[in-house]
Amino acid sequence: MSREIPPTECCVTIAGTGSYVPEKVLSNADLERMVDTSDEWITSRTGIKERRLAADGQATSDLATAAAKRAMEDAGVSAEELDLIIVATISPDAFFPATACYVQKNIGATNAMCFDISAACSGFLYAIQVARHFINTGNRRTALVIGAEKLSSMVDWEDRNTCVLFGDGAGAAVLRRDDSGDAGRKVISASLGSDGRMTDILHVPGGGSAMPITHDNADQKLNTIRMQGREVYKNAVNAMRRAAEDALQRGGLTAADVDMLIPHQANKRIIEAIGERMGIPAEKTFINLDKYGNTSAAAVAIALDEANKTGAIKDGDNVVLVAFGAGLTWASTLVKW
Ligand code: UT7
Repeated sequence: MSREIPPTECCVTIAGTGSYVPEKVLSNADLERMVDTSDEWITSRTGIKERRLAADGQATSDLATAAAKRAMEDAGVSAEELDLIIVATISPDAFFPATACYVQKNIGATNAMCFDISAACSGFLYAIQVARHFINTGNRRTALVIGAEKLSSMVDWEDRNTCVLFGDGAGAAVLRRDDSGDAGRKVISASLGSDGRMTDILHVPGGGSAMPITHDNADQKLNTIRMQGREVYKNAVNAMRRAAEDALQRGGLTAADVDMLIPHQANKRIIEAIGERMGIPAEKTFINLDKYGNTSAAAVAIALDEANKTGAIKDGDNVVLVAFGAGLTWASTLVKW
């Protein structure tokens, strides 16, 4: 479990949120024409009805930039004010430079330091915690944190085990230091962890330094996502529950105090199992995976923005964000909205 040392106290607030999903919709009916699957199977096993696909010329940084602009507008923050940009992604524009640097160029944030985080579906919450530490130490004041993915670029579109699950999109949040102490949307506590013993149950085996891409392994599609779904499922429920309860405990709260749980959007059954085990009712659990599928690092970020913009979360609410992904990694963040 997490060994987080509580940061020295200053107030880190979520000053604004934004999200962007590409226009192109791929429905379960479309997938029925591509692989041996059915709307019934996908809906009953996952809850997903459709997902978005980036256009050919659209890179992860383009999705991230669109989400970032909306978050900056929501926060009333200019590009010059940003002094830190973190992009959480497993589908970067390229191995290097960082996707965050492309976003920096796109929005003209010349005063920011920029880097990426690779923590799969937990990446957005890892990035929030990293930004929080930068802000708490006084090193940085205004951070743009983005979860963005173009997973369609690394899916094997002939593998029904995985291609029905994933989608493209981006979500962003602007984090600011607030010394008044009475600002809302305050990040209260967090719990993060990893377990490197299960790297093989969800990964892309080829294309990196361990297996540089060749004609042969590209023909075998070793540069696409491989997942042992059932193993991931079992670990996801337990790890997200533990992380959420740990973040709540660190914030002096229990599951009974939760007004809205915003979980990683991989599978409706996983989300329902967490809610049941924590005693959090369905109406206090945010789900939008029916529209977007699993967008990895973008999922919690998009869900947070939608919960914010639709009024699903209100001033004063105890909001628990929780995620789980490849690595394995897991993370939870408690926010007093
Ligand atoms: O974001 C990171 C975290 N990722 C997750 O949290 C994903 C976790 N895992 C899951 O969500 C679920 O395990 C899946 C949705 C991936 C699979 O659901 P499941 O209930 O665990 O199904 P299964 O893997 O046990 O497969 C059941 C059957 C298999 O057939 P047999 O071997 O029982 O004959 C599969 O071949 O369903 C078959 N199957 C499909 N059938 C129709 C697998 N994919 C499909 C498909 N359409 N798309």
